[in-house]
Amino acid sequence: MKWPVTLTWGQLRLRPLRRGDSRRWHQVRRANAAWLRQWEATLPAADPAVPTTFGAMTRSFRREAEAGRALALALDVDGVLMGQVTLGGIAWGSLRSAYIGYWISQEVAGQGYMPQAVALVTDHAFGVLGLHRIEINIRPENRASLRVAEKLGYRKEGYRPRYLHIDGGWRDHVSYVMLSDEWPAAGLVHAIATAGWRDRPEREADHAEPGRDNRDTPDESDRDRTVRDTGGSLPAIRPAHP
Ligand SMILES: CC(C)(COP(=O)(O)OP(=O)(O)OC[C@H]1O[C@@H](n2cnc3c(N)ncnc32)[C@H](O)[C@@H]1OP(=O)(O)O)[C@@H](O)C(=O)NCCC(=O)NCCS
Repeated sequence: MKWPVTLTWGQLRLRPLRRGDSRRWHQVRRANAAWLRQWEATLPAADPAVPTTFGAMTRSFRREAEAGRALALALDVDGVLMGQVTLGGIAWGSLRSAYIGYWISQEVAGQGYMPQAVALVTDHAFGVLGLHRIEINIRPENRASLRVAEKLGYRKEGYRPRYLHIDGGWRDHVSYVMLSDEWPAAGLVHAIATAGWRDRPEREADHAEPGRDNRDTPDESDRDRTVRDTGGSLPAIRPAHP
């Protein structure tokens, strides 16, 4: 797999994490510890394969990228490290699949940087690597992250009970998926730059009565919506973030 990879859009730059990022990376992670905790993967048991130093982590990222297993990129805004985005779990053969994971510093949240970053990585995954399927798995409580997948037109595929170990426990997730034949021909970056983000689909939880269990569990209306979502038409468009 091609490495190193650098992807840019305006003030946003995705690039390999370097050893020299150590001080800034620790600083931004420390400052955002509370903001990130409830959404971040944890280990159910000690795993000797997981790097314990920053240097070991950057080396492992390089090895994984060169072996075609994962693409972990630092996210810079105006040249300052503000987050990370990873195309992980890359499987080749008859599957050609991967997932995208991400986080961004709270100080630049809400400015559309992560959907831009995910659009860049999606275009790279389909257009350069030739993958067939990308997943984004999100806790149903994580409204900001659900919006990232929705704004990019990822299709809600289903509900995965106790799917990932997050914040110390096995947590339910909603899977959002894009297949290569659902990817806009000119790429997501082009589609967003010309037409803006996709609009927000209605969720049952928006109309839920107080006290009702608002978890995004699969039911009849979910199945209906999945069929509608795969219709492929762009709903009303909101202006793109600057
Ligand atoms: C999820 C996350 C990556 C979104 O990144 P982002 O660059 O802020 O994305 P956006 O700018 O598109 O904002 C997404 C939503 O966040 C919410 N939001 C808006 N301003 C915000 C702010 N200042 N602070 C926090 N959230 C905000 C809004 O609901 C927004 O949706 P909208 O554009 O429809 O209003 C970021 O919130 C984050 O890193 N969270 C913690 C880690 C995490 O959840 N990782 C993903 C695990 S699946």
